[in-house]
Amino acid sequence: MGGAAITTLLQGCAGTKIISGKIGGDDLVVPLKDFETKAGNEIHYKKYIVVQNEILQYPICLYRINENEYTALWMQCTHQGAELQVFGDKLQCPAHGSEFTNKGIVQSGPAETKLRSFPVIIEANQLKISLKAI
Ligand code: FES
Repeated sequence: MGGAAITTLLQGCAGTKIISGKIGGDDLVVPLKDFETKAGNEIHYKKYIVVQNEILQYPICLYRINENEYTALWMQCTHQGAELQVFGDKLQCPAHGSEFTNKGIVQSGPAETKLRSFPVIIEANQLKISLKAI
């Protein structure tokens, strides 16, 4: 079961990076350079990173919308609570097929409510995601 899940993840998410975020106080802290990938001398940026931490019940998907805008989305479907999977700019639910945008907005049901999201601050080349509400 675990093996199958990992295979699916690797196939579905080329370019995904799953990292263990550090929790400092009420914040999850992720260095901005975790989004960088290098191709020769050029720096490219990943669209998203999935962050897991033993304190978190579900992973958080961090999307890089642009240099100054990031979103942090709780990867729990708002329909019946299944864990979401990331496919590029979308999050999909394996249970009944709901889809959400990279800003957490419902794109197709049966879910009707947007995803839970967390405030993100950029500070000293790090993202600080406030987890106070968890
Ligand atoms: S739990 Fe996600 S669509 Fe039903």
